[in-house]
Amino acid sequence: MKLIAANWKSNPDTAKTAERLALAEDYEGVIIIPPFQYLERVRSVLKHASLGAQNVFWENGGPFTGEVSPSQLKNLSVSFVIAGHSERRAYLGETDDMINKKIKAALSEGLQVILCVGEPIQIRKDGIRSAKDFITNQIRYDLRGVKRSDAKKVIITYEPIWAISTSQNAEPDIPEEAAEICAYIKNLVNVRGVIYGGSVNAKNAKEFLGRDDIDGALVGGESLKPKEFQKIVSAATPLV
Ligand code: 13P
Repeated sequence: MKLIAANWKSNPDTAKTAERLALAEDYEGVIIIPPFQYLERVRSVLKHASLGAQNVFWENGGPFTGEVSPSQLKNLSVSFVIAGHSERRAYLGETDDMINKKIKAALSEGLQVILCVGEPIQIRKDGIRSAKDFITNQIRYDLRGVKRSDAKKVIITYEPIWAISTSQNAEPDIPEEAAEICAYIKNLVNVRGVIYGGSVNAKNAKEFLGRDDIDGALVGGESLKPKEFQKIVSAATPLV
């Protein structure tokens, strides 16, 4: 079964809209990842989908203003946390060292991790080999010290930065090349799965999700549009 994760990023503006969105996206195999402030409300309406959080801190409690701890998330019935999203790497200066600490803290609390990796456009322009080298470094660093048994609780998202719909001149990766990189990642580390993210929509979903080497999708923009999102889900599993 393919995994479809809905990363709502910093949307929507009200809890009522979040609840409506959650109800429309509540399918088996889906992970709904709302902003922190809606986690509880979203959890209360979900019957089939799992719940994820967009970030996590590496300490449980203490003087860390604005941070959300692994145990707080666990106690809200959160099952997954995102680590290493390129938006946080790029715009908030999140380093591989910070990401590594987050991943280890989350795993030790029993949370599963969605680790995002992906290269900037300049690297990809140098060829697919350069992209592979770049993400190999990210994965090696981000998963440093993670036990083999814990790595089975990690899902890696291959999300090339230039393919994220909000990036300048964004376009989705060529499905065949995305699949090649996902297969490469699977050879590199023994994780629960490797999914693709970056401008996935109702039209191209089948091209990505139809490939054996791609275990699912991390969807940003289109996860805010219930009808489009439902089509993406049905490209993975027929809804009826
Ligand atoms: P888009 O689906 O909007 O390209 O976003 C991808 C993403 O960043 C998901 O985490």
